Amino acid sequence: MIRSLFFISLALFICILFSGGSISGTDLKAEGCAGCHEKIYTEALASPYPHSVAKDRCELCHIVQGRSQAEVQKTLITFPFFQKEGILYLDNIKSGRRYMLEAVLTDDSGADSRVYRINLALPEVEEYSDENFLLKHISDVTLEEVKRGIFAEAAVSWLTDAPATSEIEYSGEEGYIRRLAIGGQFTKKHMIILNGLKNNNKYYYRVVSRDIYGNVMKSEELSFDTSEDFSRAVTPEEDSGDLPLINSLRAFRTPDSEGIYLMVFANKPSRLSLWLTEIAPAGVDDRHAPGLADARYSAIEVCKKCHIQNASHPVGVRARGEKVRTPDDLPTIEGGVITCVTCHMPHGGRKMYFARMDMNKDICIKCHIKGY
Ligand code: HEC
Ligand code: HEC
Ligand code: HEC
Ligand code: HEC
Ligand code: HEC
Repeated sequence: MIRSLFFISLALFICILFSGGSISGTDLKAEGCAGCHEKIYTEALASPYPHSVAKDRCELCHIVQGRSQAEVQKTLITFPFFQKEGILYLDNIKSGRRYMLEAVLTDDSGADSRVYRINLALPEVEEYSDENFLLKHISDVTLEEVKRGIFAEAAVSWLTDAPATSEIEYSGEEGYIRRLAIGGQFTKKHMIILNGLKNNNKYYYRVVSRDIYGNVMKSEELSFDTSEDFSRAVTPEEDSGDLPLINSLRAFRTPDSEGIYLMVFANKPSRLSLWLTEIAPAGVDDRHAPGLADARYSAIEVCKKCHIQNASHPVGVRARGEKVRTPDDLPTIEGGVITCVTCHMPHGGRKMYFARMDMNKDICIKCHIKGY
């Protein structure tokens, strides 16, 4: 029930749902580009001869890859532990600016996902709340490790039933209470490493988690001892070998948040790196930030990155002389320059090779009126 509510309100988000979403059986209408260019997107998917790149990589051909000069500030934020899901709080979003947010996942073996992008500005981010974000329980508080050295170190883990912060309050025999908190990150699996502890000492601690609404839960008081090394036997999770990918990435606000929450679901435990780039003042039209690529790039250069031109027909040329002409009903650019999409449909098509018309003959005589 909650899940489905979740998806009904999906359209409200500035949100991109990526393919292969394990959390969704929903169609991808809400996907960034497809949300506004739905016809192109559904046609591309339905083509008898589909072009796989057009399914989920619209930006590859259409959005300029370099950074715009408007770039002012770029911030890297990382999610230190390997998680499959979590919420990050971004407090450095200024209300008058628009941002490009780029996210990359890195798995345990060091493999990176592709770069995911969303374009966001504070006023457009909707408020959202979900019962699943309400913290009710802390469980499985576990001492993972005690390591002795000049100073001792201890690792404690626990679980929460909702995304929440990881904090710990602890005190040694000398009494006064110390606190360690990882701010701005809300997860269900928690781990905190305490360093600088004394050897041969007894420590008392409680773990503390706070959900995004500010509800706080504390565990009962527990203790550990630094008089011996200890390490809990763990069976490492088996690596599926798949590359990490983001199943869903969405921004939302709570009624009293000043910044933005970013919810991330990955296909496997990964570390998240986020680059936040200011791209323009808010209000400027940049649905296509950092900008639409020019036609020569979208219709020729990008194609050559994946296809070898070989003996293929010349492109980037225009008709000269009286044997060749420029037809009105085949698309060219710059007033007559031939591109790959003069003959091929870019998003996939009804004919083999995404041909615009019968490739054997019909198409050639459109231009070569007197033979080749
Ligand atoms: C908020 C709606 C919106 C989003 C999101 C959006 N577009 Fe657009 N796009 C438009 C509109 C409206 C136009 C046409 C008017 C204009 O150029 O401003 C357009 C124009 C275009 C054009 C040029 C079309 C032409 O006829 O020259 C391309 C290509 C394009 N978008 C691709 C994309 C891609 C790729 C994405 C995703 C990265 C995307 N758009 C995201 C609304 C959107
Ligand atoms: C393989 C590269 C490629 C991919 C991937 C791609 N396009 Fe295009 N698209 C083109 C080319 C080339 C054109 C036509 C010429 C141009 O815009 O320069 C075009 C045309 C368009 C147009 C304007 C013309 C029209 O038909 O109305 C829009 C809008 C558009 N694409 C959106 C998208 C969206 C949305 C996606 C993702 C679902 C996408 N494109 C994926 C290459 C691509
Ligand atoms: C990211 C790589 C990539 C880019 C960029 C790309 N393609 Fe493709 N293209 C493919 C792949 C992969 C296939 C094989 C069919 C499939 O899975 O989509 C393909 C298939 C094709 C085919 C059909 C070939 C066949 O044997 O059936 C044509 C024609 C084609 N692409 C033209 C283009 C044109 C034109 C552009 C530029 C507008 C372009 N491609 C850009 C990856 C790419
Ligand atoms: C003047 C029309 C025309 C232009 C321009 C053109 N092609 Fe083609 N393309 C064809 C025809 C015709 C075929 C089928 C050839 C065959 O039967 O072997 C073809 C086949 C292909 C194929 C599938 C066969 C193969 O070689 O793998 C791909 C991929 C392709 N073209 C990509 C491109 C790209 C990329 C460009 C731009 C750099 C381009 N084409 C420009 C007409 C064109
Ligand atoms: C959109 C117009 C257009 C279409 C369609 C077209 N051509 Fe061309 N073709 C040209 C132009 C323009 C040139 C360059 C002529 C020049 O440089 O004077 C050219 C050049 C050629 C050349 C000479 C290549 C060279 O290196 O000199 C051959 C061969 C050729 N085309 C074959 C074909 C065949 C086969 C088809 C059909 C599959 C075809 N063309 C479709 C416009 C077209």
